[in-house]
Amino acid sequence: MNSTDTHQDQALLREKAARRRRATALAHPNIALIKYWGNQDDNLRLPANPSLSMNLGSLQTITTVTFDDSLAGDTLAINGVPFTGPTLERVTANLDLVRRQAGLTYRARIESDSNVPVGSGIASSSAAFAALSVAAAAAAGLDLDQAALSRLARRGSGSASRSVPGGFCLWQAGDDDSSVARSIAPPEHWDLQDVVAIVSQEHKEVGSSGGHPLARTSPLQAARIAGVERRLEACREALLARNLPALGPVIEEDAVIMHAVMMSSRPPLYYWTPTTMALILTTQRWQRDGLPVYFTIDAGPNVHLICEAGLAQQVEAELHKIPGVQTVLTSGPGGPARLIEH
Ligand code: DP6
Repeated sequence: MNSTDTHQDQALLREKAARRRRATALAHPNIALIKYWGNQDDNLRLPANPSLSMNLGSLQTITTVTFDDSLAGDTLAINGVPFTGPTLERVTANLDLVRRQAGLTYRARIESDSNVPVGSGIASSSAAFAALSVAAAAAAGLDLDQAALSRLARRGSGSASRSVPGGFCLWQAGDDDSSVARSIAPPEHWDLQDVVAIVSQEHKEVGSSGGHPLARTSPLQAARIAGVERRLEACREALLARNLPALGPVIEEDAVIMHAVMMSSRPPLYYWTPTTMALILTTQRWQRDGLPVYFTIDAGPNVHLICEAGLAQQVEAELHKIPGVQTVLTSGPGGPARLIEH
């Protein structure tokens, strides 16, 4: 399918959705290679710094939004389980932006199914709010371009802005208008793999949304921000040149400095467990043995190992042998968030 077909398909699906006030969208979560941590504006989710990520093609969330005038309030079911409280309120806040723009008052039924394991430490909110934004906009009859959809997804979860475009995405810091993510390379550009060692499936005590406001309390956040442009540029160049030995050390440095900010916040956030540290040291040993594999870590204890496709199976097998590793998930680059047939 070429890009024109895809474009036409999406336009057709949008037309249908607007008629039925119902749309279904699919989105992938993403892993940040250069991290987002801290906001200039927590409410608008304007990040303190630009970030760069890869969509994870084998993980996905599929969400159907149906605007229905018989509903008294929005309803939400994730993998068939009804949700109320703060989770529903966050979804309603995002839908309100769509309703306001479309001049619509109907409440919505949201049904979301995901193969991202709950509590796996993979940012499921990135896929969730990207799929929600794409489906809700279409169901409300809005014809938004990718930048507008990325902006809308950002308001729900910052990292979701990067799950709207495909492949490898750069999310700009800036104001409400300019802070959107764009693809810098399609998924076919590089068969990079994210081999995730899951070391804990427990629910985090402090999630990303609670953590971002703490970033400014760390004396190291200013140093992290001061160096981010350099790391971002090095990462972008290495990515475009498919140069893993150049990419690896930069993504490791960026992840570690983010965790240094987390650990030196008030109150501090310690996401690492002894197994996290053991995995970091194991990765270093593999590198000394000549294996091109590098780590990154999000707001949790799980370790993402980044390597090329040829090495992924070996890395998976080695990870399974390490005490404390519960599961291993592997994914290559994924496409953009998009409408699909119901
Ligand atoms: C450590 O996007 O999950 O994964 O905007 O509050 O939803 P909210 O936060 P979120 O933060 C992600 C933080 C991170 C790094 C990253 O993905 O860039």
